Amino acid sequence: MALTDAEVIRALREVAGAAHVLDDDEARTRYGIDRTTLVPPAPCCVVRPGSTAQVQAIVRLAREHGIALVPSGGRTGLSGGAVAARGEVVVSLERMDRLVEFNAEERSITVEAGMITARLQQHAAAHGLLYAVDFASAGSSHIGGNIATNAGGIKVIRYGMTRDQVLGLEVVDGRGELLELNRGLVKNNTGPDLRHLFIGSEGILGIITSATLALRNAPGPLDVMLLAVRDFAAIMDVLRVFTRAITLNAFEFFGHNGLQRVLERLQRKAPLGAEAPFYVLLEFEHQGAAAPEQAMRAFEECVQAGWVLDGVLSQSLAQARELWLLRESMSETLARWLPYKNDIALRIPALPAFIERARVLVEREYRGLEVVWYGHVGDGNLHLNVLKPETMPVAQFAGLCERVTHGIAALVRDCGGSISAEHGVGLLKKHILHYTRSSAEIEALRQIKRVFDPAAIMNPGKIFDP
Ligand code: MLT
Ligand code: ZN
Repeated sequence: MALTDAEVIRALREVAGAAHVLDDDEARTRYGIDRTTLVPPAPCCVVRPGSTAQVQAIVRLAREHGIALVPSGGRTGLSGGAVAARGEVVVSLERMDRLVEFNAEERSITVEAGMITARLQQHAAAHGLLYAVDFASAGSSHIGGNIATNAGGIKVIRYGMTRDQVLGLEVVDGRGELLELNRGLVKNNTGPDLRHLFIGSEGILGIITSATLALRNAPGPLDVMLLAVRDFAAIMDVLRVFTRAITLNAFEFFGHNGLQRVLERLQRKAPLGAEAPFYVLLEFEHQGAAAPEQAMRAFEECVQAGWVLDGVLSQSLAQARELWLLRESMSETLARWLPYKNDIALRIPALPAFIERARVLVEREYRGLEVVWYGHVGDGNLHLNVLKPETMPVAQFAGLCERVTHGIAALVRDCGGSISAEHGVGLLKKHILHYTRSSAEIEALRQIKRVFDPAAIMNPGKIFDP
């Protein structure tokens, strides 16, 4: 039977305690949104469970009364997956941030879903180990959210996505069942692996409550190189040469206008003497003197070929950090222009043709608007950001971008890519999901949702419409 908001709040208080159900305007606005700005938050209330048992009780209550739930982590998402805009209950995992088990021998760690990613990285580092997924919002994102969106970031070229780190998952599905998926095993061939259905599911099947993650031996000192590159096609040549020469930890790029914006905000001088349309930032392990020497040889080859116009190799940890800051500040710097984000994945050989065609399309359709390209080009992930002109109303800007995005999505499809590489689908990309996932796939996803979430209470309206 449907409950009124007041009854929902009262029932949740009985489960989680009065102090952990928030219904004031400030909390509803704060917890009802992620880093997107297009859809205003309007949740019924926020509940902050302190244990898996409480999560289970909340889901069972929701199932019984048809209450829509929006799981919420660090709210750093960029596709609206954690937006609660239709009177849903936000389930924030922030109180569930405990370290459950550390296993140095096996190089694994089990943590509750609300642990902040940077804290997980620090736990690993304290034992000389590495949690290998990293990105600019690691200081506030939660591991549960990382798993629910299969977060990528800057080291995917070396270590893979979040999916590749997950050894086990504890989830409460939309039926209220507690599932312990894979239980930390490395090998477990007992039919389809349900763990992977929940990774990247953006909360539409259930709520992740804890996870066991693989750690790796920490790398030695890292060197960073910043290169000024002649044009996009040359980036691909540079990637080929460096991939052959050394083991890359990261291979990122950004456009000149993006760099200018970052330099202005950070009040820094240009890092290189030469200006170029694009810059590549790459990282590799020092490994004695061997890697830097090989990297320098690769650099010289690229200069001789005319692909690279200038470059710098970090001489200290501090300088490496300064160079990284230029790339890592990009997203935050552009945020004040309310950028419309396309998060595109392509196979490496498809990149040059895609970029050529995309540039023609973007210049024609976004005439007069500023477009900033950056991303994790080494793994085929491009971020295309369109900046809102100060004078253009938000609704007009959003309408224009949504329309042009159809053309970009069609091009991504024609080039064999995906309309979302690492940001997920959420609310903002579902209108273009069909370009790169077939109707048979989307129908299968709908049916899978019905299995785990028969009452359709788990993050409804995200990824696809019911
Ligand atoms: C990045 O690569 O900086 C992140 O994916 C965030 C963004 O694209 O804005
Ligand atoms: Zn990114």
